[in-house]
Amino acid sequence: MALFSSLTPVFVAVLCVIIGFIIKNSQKKDESRSKEKRSDGGKVRPWVDEDLQDDTEINSKDNEDDYECLETEDENNLHHIPYTPHQYSASEILERSEKFYSLMNLRRSVRFISPEPVPREVINNVILTAGTAPSGAHTEPWTFVVVTDADVKHKIREIVEEEEEINYKQRMGDKWVHDLKRLRTNWVKEYLDIAPYLILIFKQIHGVHPNGKKKTHYYNEISVSIACGILLAALQNVGLVTVTTTPLNCGPQLRALLQRPANEKLLMLLPVGYPTSDATVPDLKRKDLNDIMVNV
Ligand SMILES: Cc1cc2nc3c(=O)[nH]c(=O)nc-3n(C[C@H](O)[C@H](O)[C@H](O)COP(=O)(O)O)c2cc1C
Repeated sequence: MALFSSLTPVFVAVLCVIIGFIIKNSQKKDESRSKEKRSDGGKVRPWVDEDLQDDTEINSKDNEDDYECLETEDENNLHHIPYTPHQYSASEILERSEKFYSLMNLRRSVRFISPEPVPREVINNVILTAGTAPSGAHTEPWTFVVVTDADVKHKIREIVEEEEEINYKQRMGDKWVHDLKRLRTNWVKEYLDIAPYLILIFKQIHGVHPNGKKKTHYYNEISVSIACGILLAALQNVGLVTVTTTPLNCGPQLRALLQRPANEKLLMLLPVGYPTSDATVPDLKRKDLNDIMVNV
């Protein structure tokens, strides 16, 4: 009895540790479960990349005091200058609109990319073109990382394939995998080694003022997505191909590999080059004008 009572404090202590361990473990499980769910009815949305922080609001974890408005005289006293672009005749604009549509209608996502070299200046020009995109309050919240180094490309392939295999087998779910089947995509991405260029587009969720304070990047995701669209058009214009990819859950690893700062989130990865001579694409049809346009 004496032995039992002298051991009681030890039992109580051990019991407390066990209970604490159980509570902590169940909290962890709740946390990971709630990561998979969103506020809209708690539906699982596996295509939402947690790292992307899709909202353009200031992150709730951020302190508003960390942010600062434009400060310098130059930034605040912006001159407004005349804008007089060339105006085409009615027949010219019709012809140009038809030609541009024909060009863009030939754009396809191509997953068979040739190693044939592409002049670097062309890549610089298409990125300059992407950088002409409009952006919320002209914040230009984009970073285009151009990778040509074979070792880095291979490391990117390893990261993407490892995560994509988990995505296909575990995260995406039967419906998504089924919907992709006809496109014949999977987690093997040879083009990541082969394409002469990989362009990784990061959205900057905020900027940084020279004094270290954060600068709000309004609508950064929409702005960068528009820039990506212009980049796709610029590539099409020079006869290069790519496939729009959004490597789910690869952002943090790729950001670390490419030594990008924490305010940059991977939005898109574009392998760029010429198509192989035996490239194929799924025979998809596009919607008619009447199916995409509403006249009011
Ligand atoms: C946001 C977005 C993400 C995409 N992600 C992938 C991807 O991860 N892998 C892939 O092979 N294709 C991806 N695609 C390409 C689509 O499958 C392709 O655009 C669609 O099948 C239509 O084909 P098209 O681009 O040839 O017109 C993506 C496209 C978009 C717009």
